[in-house]
Amino acid sequence: MKNGAHDLRQDFLRYFEAQGHRAVTSSALIPQADPTLLFTNAGMNQFKRVFLGEETRPYKRAVTVQKCLRAGGKHNDLENVGYTRRHHTFFEMLGNFSFGDYFKEDAIRFGWEFLTQTVGLDRSRLWITIFREDAEAGRIWQKIGVAPSRIVRCDEKDNFWQMADTGPCGPCSEIHFDQGPSVPGDDTPNGEGDRVIEIWNLVFMQFNRDASGTLHPLPEPSIDTGMGLERLAAVAQGVYSNYDSDLFTPLLAAIGRRAHTTYGKTEEHDRSMRVIADHLRAITFLMTDGVLPSNEGRGYVLRRILRRAARHGRLLGIVEPFLHELTPTVVEQMGTAYPEIRAAADTVTEATRGEEERFIATLDQGLPILNDMISKARAAGRPVLTGPDVFKLYDTYGFPIDLMSEACREQGMTLDERGFDQAIEEQRNRARKTSGFEQEITRPVVADVAGRFGSTKFIGYDRLESEGVLQAILKGDTIVKEAIAGDEVEVVLDVTPFYAEGGGQVGDQGTLTGSEGRIEIKETTRPIPTLILHKGTVTAGRIRKGEPLRMAVNHSTRQDAARNHTATHLVHAALRDLLGPHVKQYGSLVAPNRLRFDFAHFRPLSSRDIDDIESTVNGEIRKNESVRTEVMNIQEAVANGALAFFGDKYGEQVRVVTVESFSKELCGGTHCRHTGEIGLFRIVSETGVAAGVRRLEAQTGSGAVALMKKLEADVRELSDLLKVGPSELVAKTRKVMTQLKDKERELEELKLKMASGSPDHSSVKTVAGVQVHVQRTDGLDMNGMRALADRLRDKLKSGVVALGGATEDGKVSLLVVVTKDLIAAIKAGDLIKAMAAEVGGTGGGRPEMAQAGGKDPSKLDAALGKVFELVETIRRG
Ligand code: ALA
Repeated sequence: MKNGAHDLRQDFLRYFEAQGHRAVTSSALIPQADPTLLFTNAGMNQFKRVFLGEETRPYKRAVTVQKCLRAGGKHNDLENVGYTRRHHTFFEMLGNFSFGDYFKEDAIRFGWEFLTQTVGLDRSRLWITIFREDAEAGRIWQKIGVAPSRIVRCDEKDNFWQMADTGPCGPCSEIHFDQGPSVPGDDTPNGEGDRVIEIWNLVFMQFNRDASGTLHPLPEPSIDTGMGLERLAAVAQGVYSNYDSDLFTPLLAAIGRRAHTTYGKTEEHDRSMRVIADHLRAITFLMTDGVLPSNEGRGYVLRRILRRAARHGRLLGIVEPFLHELTPTVVEQMGTAYPEIRAAADTVTEATRGEEERFIATLDQGLPILNDMISKARAAGRPVLTGPDVFKLYDTYGFPIDLMSEACREQGMTLDERGFDQAIEEQRNRARKTSGFEQEITRPVVADVAGRFGSTKFIGYDRLESEGVLQAILKGDTIVKEAIAGDEVEVVLDVTPFYAEGGGQVGDQGTLTGSEGRIEIKETTRPIPTLILHKGTVTAGRIRKGEPLRMAVNHSTRQDAARNHTATHLVHAALRDLLGPHVKQYGSLVAPNRLRFDFAHFRPLSSRDIDDIESTVNGEIRKNESVRTEVMNIQEAVANGALAFFGDKYGEQVRVVTVESFSKELCGGTHCRHTGEIGLFRIVSETGVAAGVRRLEAQTGSGAVALMKKLEADVRELSDLLKVGPSELVAKTRKVMTQLKDKERELEELKLKMASGSPDHSSVKTVAGVQVHVQRTDGLDMNGMRALADRLRDKLKSGVVALGGATEDGKVSLLVVVTKDLIAAIKAGDLIKAMAAEVGGTGGGRPEMAQAGGKDPSKLDAALGKVFELVETIRRG
């Protein structure tokens, strides 16, 4: 195909490389260096700092094909997807950039040349828009040969571009394409309909907008351009909808096969198919870049996208989860241009399946209720779904709000968003009041102490001892002036080397000593960000408010906690190395005696994975790298690649903990100075704690050594018991187990032989044409009796087998088996009942087999003897 999407990508890169541009790889969909952005929304994002003059690159011209997502944040197209033929969540942006190199003249010339010569678009169909004050751009376009009548002046709304509320921006000039009168819409740019559509935006970057909205000139005027590959492909291929270009046709065909329909049949189905096609691409690319469905931030956007796609699947009549069957089509189609999605394909499939399954469960519960609410509202002549209704669905059934609003839209109704927001806010307030966390904060006495005595300065990152002045003593909820031996207290000092629980790390323990007394501190917390509380018992003498105390943190528990904390960072990095960037930390616990690390991952780790992680971490420990901590600006930290928890709130200044060339995280905890101090790292267990969340528990230092010692002691004990050296333990154990099995088998055989081989105890007669085998089986348990009965039945082929024996505890077991051909007339259950009655028992069973117990072994022979008579009576009827 001429101008296939793949060729267009290549042509674009090649054209600009020939003009001296460096081809730069697309950055991830998650902006690594920019907390102002939820997702990468334009090609220029990765060059933001270059435009701002904060960073220099070894090139002044660049060209990219950039993955972008516009769903949430300033540029949000999610709601439009499906309803138009132009909008996408995920899309690819072709862009060329100049960092203080060429400016308007060349940017315009390159754009014109590429479109009219390389791609071969008909120049008479192109329109140009310019910013109303930018006469210079108008002149350049005319110089190139564009008629003044095809150049339109527009205002800020259309021709001033900025990436977010703050950051680089500038006037722009757009190239539009007229698709001709067959497409509905105005025949000029920025009008109604799809006839004339924007394909390329050339931004003349000149300013940086600050948080107050003020524009500051950039150090050097620059160029940023962006052209959606999807639109270019459509116009270059002469089709009127992006979804008819080769970027989408294979995917729509696959969706059609799955839904037993074809694209282009009905508008309603087409819309759903477009939604699914678009969203499948977004899902695949987002998950590849490490986003997993969740209830916050990026994860929530992904959840909304995935659930919207899933819902449109239901509208097409698909009932089972199906999205995961289609992500491989995306991988196949886009894997050449973006090899990273190949590597993540399995994770994408599994995560998609899990999320869709959960969503279907939600829908099954919520949809009938939603439909009911809608029809009630209509019946009442009220075309609005009320706030409380919406909230109930959202809160009780986890029904996403945008799905409700879309369902309303389909029914010509609206949804009371204000009422819903109010209901949410009320719920938040309720939650805040009832959570223990909040109670801690609002414990009035603590607030009182903070108000009266100010804050505590933490000085414990590099010292474990200091002097402090005792500011306040709490006994329960009372502020007291002094406390004596035996009192449980919480105390506040002006400074402290005690680390307060936070960031997963437990608080320090230690002692506070005054001139007359001592407190053993068991727990250190930070109920309000500025206040550190030391909780413990006065163990000697007395302490008084205002006196100086010598503070000493328990060195060994602190050191153990530090080992575990540094090890946690190493585990995190090792997991990401081994499993991929989707491994996101969900939570952690760092205590002196253990560490726990919860992370996003979709299957249990294999023992091989666990080995690898252990080896990697121990390798880092042996390298004895130094652990560096620095305080820096958050932007700088993230730009340097520090891992932060998305959704966590960080201040402007953050602490970054680095293990050279291995791990970098934002962290306020206490750490070893060198990784070697960790000593040894052992994983104790790997378990699942929730869908898609795994948990590793591990030990370090002396804990890990104790673990090894315990194992070693067990091995020694086993060696003694089995009387071999440790190296032969496994072989010996195998041998013993095989021997044991052989012996068991022998024993069974013997018992059977004893029972079947003693002719005195058995008799076989033919009664009324039926062979009846009766036998005493003393000492044989039920399993043995069954095995024997099976054998005898097989030997008889047709007949009745009745067994009975005294058990070891002096009771009676009976068993009767009747071959299939006879059960119409003779039922094992009937026989056994009569026999059991004889020995003082009861029993029953199926026609082919029945068993019973009894109490009186002395009646056994009589009971067995009865079988012949019984068979005779039954036969003679
Ligand atoms: N950054 C500009 C845009 O996204 C080119 O339209």
